[in-house]
Order: sequence, then C-alpha cells, then structure tokens
Amino acid sequence: MERTFIMIKPDGVRRKLVGEIIGRIEHRNLNIVAMKMLTPTRELAEEHYAVHKGKDFFEGVVDFITSGPVVAMVVEGDNCIKLMRNMMGATNPENASPGTIRGDLTASTRENLIHGSDSPETAVCEIGLWFGKDGMQ
Ligand code: PPS
Repeated sequence: MERTFIMIKPDGVRRKLVGEIIGRIEHRNLNIVAMKMLTPTRELAEEHYAVHKGKDFFEGVVDFITSGPVVAMVVEGDNCIKLMRNMMGATNPENASPGTIRGDLTASTRENLIHGSDSPETAVCEIGLWFGKDGMQ
C-alpha cells in the first residue's frame, strides 16, 4: 500500500470545495488515513516548498499557502501517488484536462486547489513534515 500527502489549499477551503474534493478521493476508493485543518506557519510553508526556493514564484506560493486554513491529509491506496496526481490535473491550467479537480474547478496556476506529492520520496518527506514520523500526528 502506498501513501501520499494531499493538501486542499486555502482557495479550496474558501470556495467551500472541501467536500467536493474529499468526495472525489473517496469515490476513487482511496483511504484517507489522517486528516487535519490548520493554517500553515511560514516556517512550515517554506520547508514544504523548499525545493522551489529562489524561483520567482516562491514568495508568492508561500504567501498564498499561509493565507488561511488548509486541509492536510495522508491518503493510502495502491499507486495512490500517480492516481492522485492524475485526479488533480496539471499545474498549468491550460493543460489541466476536464474531469480532473483542477480542470473542472480552477483556471489559476497559483490558486489551484490541491497539492499532491510527486514521488514516493517526496511523499515520505511531506508526510513526515506535516504529520510527524509515524504519519499520524
Ligand atoms: S516547477 O518549477 O515546474 O518545478 O514548478 P511546479 O511543480 O509547476 O510548481 C510548484 C508549485 O508552485 C506552484 N506554482 C506557482 N505558484 C504561484 N505562482 C506561480 N506562477 C506558480 N507556478 C507554480 C504550483 O502550484 C506548485 O504548487 P504545488 O502545491 O506543488 O502543486
């Protein structure tokens, strides 16, 4: 069983799309094994996006992710990293296919509703960062 870190971003909470997004994850028969709502600190957001430090969008994405509550989750299921990335749709709204969360619900690169780990290694790091070593805190 694979695990991935999923976050509904502040725009998803503000737009009251939490139920819609969680519904899509559950309808895919993936398991949400941990979940919490929190407003990320700047320190947590900078660590989460550390790989993008120095890029022109870094400050903007940190500002955005700390702008309000997010819903952080650990999702479990066979191949769930790839399944979730496919369900999310592409970062570039022009490439986000209809039927995906982004392709159906947003047209913005920054306010793109959802984050999902992009590899098994990233998933381990992100679950540890947001939910502690056991992935349940
Ligand atoms: S990269 O450079 O290709 O690795 O970046 P990418 O994976 O596409 O995006 C990394 C995360 O940064 C967000 N992003 C942006 N935010 C604000 N403004 C701009 N221009 C921008 N470009 C990318 C993007 O939504 C990604 O967030 P996550 O949470 O990883 O989906």
